[in-house]
Amino acid sequence: MKNKGIGTQCVQGGYTPGNGEPRQIPIIQSTTFKYATSEDMGKLFDLEAEGYFYTRLQNPTNDAVAAKIAELEGGSAAMLTSSGQAANLFAIFNIAGNGDHIVASNSIYGGTYNLFAVTMKRMGIDFTFVDPDCSFEELDAAFQDNTKAVFGETIANPALTVLDIEKFAHAAHAHGVPLIIDNTFATPVLCRPFEWGADIITHSTTKYMDGHGTAVGGCIVDSGKFDWTRYPDKFPGLTTPDESYHGITYTERFGLEGAFITKATAQLMRDLGSIQSPQNAFYLNLGLESLHVRMPRHSQNALAVATFLSKHPKIRSVQYSGLPGDKYYDLAQKYLPNGSCGVVSFEIEGGRKAAERFMKHLKLAAIETHVADARTCCLHPASSTHRQMSEEELKAAGISADMVRFSCGLEDAEDLIQDIDQALNA
Ligand SMILES: Cc1ncc(COP(=O)(O)O)c(C=O)c1O
Repeated sequence: MKNKGIGTQCVQGGYTPGNGEPRQIPIIQSTTFKYATSEDMGKLFDLEAEGYFYTRLQNPTNDAVAAKIAELEGGSAAMLTSSGQAANLFAIFNIAGNGDHIVASNSIYGGTYNLFAVTMKRMGIDFTFVDPDCSFEELDAAFQDNTKAVFGETIANPALTVLDIEKFAHAAHAHGVPLIIDNTFATPVLCRPFEWGADIITHSTTKYMDGHGTAVGGCIVDSGKFDWTRYPDKFPGLTTPDESYHGITYTERFGLEGAFITKATAQLMRDLGSIQSPQNAFYLNLGLESLHVRMPRHSQNALAVATFLSKHPKIRSVQYSGLPGDKYYDLAQKYLPNGSCGVVSFEIEGGRKAAERFMKHLKLAAIETHVADARTCCLHPASSTHRQMSEEELKAAGISADMVRFSCGLEDAEDLIQDIDQALNA
């Protein structure tokens, strides 16, 4: 069947059982796989034959779930990682190393910012952070000769800026580098960044994809469209022989569709070992089976909550790109016509203390270092996920000291509004 709908892909993508095989994706809870001869095993090690030999690199449960996510995003190949952090690390480290440079939006998740600005900088990779709303000329000026990729989030956590993906893709391609998009908050149900020119997509599957707060995980999807061979000097890791794999050249052996993910699996998973456990991949798949049903409901609840907050006298400002009048409303209409996800950010009159008091009085919404869950939760980013940022960095990332990030779950919108109302009055 061609052109399956997104709902069918969510439910049945990635795994088609044969006669008498399990209907549900089986959990292959095995570290290792048996072979009859050392020769068979050797072929796997040389990437000459397909198959599994050790779960640090690959596991059939993970691959079935990754194939579903690749299908959902319209990509050529995907891999699961142990977390969203690992996904973003691998996506960049697969094509950049010591002495290289990346252009990134400054409106991104605090953990990703820290990974880039501190840990990856220590690995010798430099980052230039740009305002996602900058002009094309300003974006263009951020590139250097050693730039290897551009990075941004479709809907940024927690500032909820909406990235102009086409603008970022044009700039990246003009400089011969790929655009990497973290599509965690939108999910492919609300936005498919490959259709707007992105080349690689990452996810924290911990969020909406799992959706039930059960399993930490990540995913990298390759569009298979970026032509690494046009820029062999920029991407020698993909276009020249890998001595650690007996001289394989990934683009030659696996083509544009398979090179990026095969290299990330064969080299990075082998050496850094950040694979998702098959058990977690199984939980993730349960979440994926209802993603297309949940995302519209999360978005509807968030729009109802944002609308209520925007009229409340104790609320100074509301950020939700699905709300008419929001700074990102027009971009959301373009990139997120079916909803802007369940996360709303807002500022309360009375500053940080008022925000903390409000959160303490919430009954349904729990204070959690989490977001994008079936149960409504909230967080004060300045004192938690983004506390490593300076006041200036917070400001540049669009986060104020009194901002509350409110993640609308799947409950009834009227109940969420009632809960917010009583907490604001308390
Ligand atoms: C947009 C985004 N990317 C990446 C991450 C990191 O994901 P994880 O917590 O699964 O490592 C998060 C976590 O909140 C996130 O919101």
